[in-house]
Amino acid sequence: MSHLMNTYGRQPVAFSHGKGCHLTDTDGKIYLDALSGIAVNTLGHAHPAFVAALAEQAGRLIHVSNLYQAPLQERLADVLAERSGLAEAFFCNSGCEANEAAIKLARFYGHKKGIENPTVIVMEKAFHGRTMATLSATGNYKVQAGFEPLVSGFLRVPYGDLDAIRNVAEHHGNVVAVMLEVIQGEGGIYMAPAEYLQGVRELCDAHQWLMICDEVQCGMGRTGKWFGYQHAGVLPDIATLAKGLGSGVPVGACLAGGRAAGLFGPGN
Ligand SMILES: Cc1ncc(COP(=O)(O)O)c(C=O)c1O
Repeated sequence: MSHLMNTYGRQPVAFSHGKGCHLTDTDGKIYLDALSGIAVNTLGHAHPAFVAALAEQAGRLIHVSNLYQAPLQERLADVLAERSGLAEAFFCNSGCEANEAAIKLARFYGHKKGIENPTVIVMEKAFHGRTMATLSATGNYKVQAGFEPLVSGFLRVPYGDLDAIRNVAEHHGNVVAVMLEVIQGEGGIYMAPAEYLQGVRELCDAHQWLMICDEVQCGMGRTGKWFGYQHAGVLPDIATLAKGLGSGVPVGACLAGGRAAGLFGPGN
C-alpha cells in the first residue's frame, strides 16, 4: 500500500530522466513531453545552463532566511520589473501563494482606503489555486466541494463580460480589485479579447480598483511575449507568477506596480 496521500489520479508510468522535450520512463521508453509538467518546464528537461546554475548554487548556499539581504533575489526582481513593467516583486514558492499575496495586497489596499469589507471581483471558470482563499476565488465548484465554508470577499462574474463588472460597480461599494487570468487555463483554454482587458483596465482606473492578472500558467513567455497582458497593451497593478518562473524549481512571485506598489511593510 502506498504511503502517499491519495490526492492525484496518476498514470501508470514513472520517468527516470529527461532531455529537452523528451522524457524516458523507468523501462527505457522515450516520450515526447507535450505537457511540460503542466506549463512548468519552460526550459525543457535538464537544460545544461539551468542544471549548472542550480548545482553551483546548491553547493554554495541553499537557504539563509529572510532575515538577511538576498542579492540574487534582488537581481531577479530587477529583471522581472524591467520585463513586466511592475516595480516590485514578492517571492514565494507557488502560484497559490503568489495569488494569496495578491489577494492580501488588494484587501490591504482596501483597508487603507477605509473599506472594511474589501471585495475582489473574480471570474467564472477561473482557477487560482487550492489554498483556502485561492480555491474560494476559483470558479469551479469541484475544487471547492467539501472545503466549505469558503473565504468571503469574492464576487463572481462571467469571464469576458464588461457589463457584468459595470453592474457590480453600480451595486457594491466594497470592490477593491478585479482578478483574472489573461488566458484561462484549467477552466478550458479561454482567451480574454484585448478590448475586454482594456475595458477592465479602464474600469479599474475609473473606480480606483486594482487590476490583478494571474499569469501563473500563461506568463513567462508562453504566449510569445513575457506576459499575456502585454498582447493587449495594458499594464495591470498586480501580476502573479509561478510554474515557468522556476522551470521546475518551486518559485512564485507577486509583482506589484501602480496603485499596488509600496503598500506592504515588514511583517505583512
Ligand atoms: C492560473 C493558475 N493560477 C494559479 C495556479 C496555482 O499554482 P500552484 O499549483 O503553483 O499553486 C495554477 C495552477 O495550475 C494556475 O493555472
